[in-house]
Amino acid sequence: MKVKKAVIPAAGLGTRFLPATKAMAKEMLPIVDKPTIQFIVEEALKAGIEDILIVTGKAKRPIEDHFDANIELETNLREKGKTELLKLVEETTDVNLHFIRQSHPRGLGHAVLQAKAFVGNEPFVVMLGDDLMEDEIPLTKQLINDYEKTHASTIAVMKVPHEETYKYGIIDPEAEVADGLYNVRSFVEKPKPENAPSDLAIIGRYLLTPEIFHILENQAPGAGDEIQLTDAIDTLNKTQRVFAQEFKGKRYDVGDKIGFLKTSIAYGLTHPEVKADLRAFIKELGAELTAEDELQAISAKAAKKPTAETKKADQ
Ligand code: UTP
Repeated sequence: MKVKKAVIPAAGLGTRFLPATKAMAKEMLPIVDKPTIQFIVEEALKAGIEDILIVTGKAKRPIEDHFDANIELETNLREKGKTELLKLVEETTDVNLHFIRQSHPRGLGHAVLQAKAFVGNEPFVVMLGDDLMEDEIPLTKQLINDYEKTHASTIAVMKVPHEETYKYGIIDPEAEVADGLYNVRSFVEKPKPENAPSDLAIIGRYLLTPEIFHILENQAPGAGDEIQLTDAIDTLNKTQRVFAQEFKGKRYDVGDKIGFLKTSIAYGLTHPEVKADLRAFIKELGAELTAEDELQAISAKAAKKPTAETKKADQ
């Protein structure tokens, strides 16, 4: 069966990004000039997805409005002959988008469960609204290509530093059955580094068979007292094969501050309008930081050097 549907959970509280996320979904934070969630929608379309469900929470309106027509703005841009800007504003409206509300943010598994009626009895993809992936073939398309061969659920994973396993779902790989494609013994949510079965972490793209919904309906809260998608996937893996596909491209976690800053710089350096100025600014900043580091090193050295007085006092 063809994979045609995607679910984008965007109802989390975004506590790592407060206070910016107090009244606004972190998925709407712009990377240079485009909200993160628009990058995700574009990845879905490139992968051949036809219908997208966005699971929203308290900050539903701005997301809905972003993908809706804005007649007043469009008329204004048209009247002023700003055709390039008009194109940018209009390109977000031509997508088959649906919305559903997750009334309480009870965890990623619970957010995905809200998509049960939308998905029906088909395989589908889950794309986290705060994770950007960059590769020649979009990661969602890579997972769909796997599914066309295996007809099984496939979860994207990526190597992370060992000390960071507690932030992710981690897989216990059994065997590499094709290039970067693993059979998995178990999926463990947020293990401490000493208990982590590997450094392969679940990242924000999943291809799932619809049997996951029955499991999610009966899923007890796990780590952080949340209904964890990882726990449901582990249960699914006991009755039907769930593969893990290692992602070799670049991943940007826009959901935390440093990740957001890095993403903005990386995308800024490729953005035709700002890349030259940004590059010059970074060079300038680099030179200032180097000079500052050198000054600090000199004063640290001077502080350690015994003076005539300290020598006397020591005697
Ligand atoms: P995160 O764990 O990154 O989101 O979930 P969060 O809970 O908003 O983040 P922090 O830790 O408080 O900063 C990954 C994705 O799942 C969605 C989030 O919006 C994010 O895109 N999510 C998470 C939901 O839709 N509902 C939930 O109950 C939890």
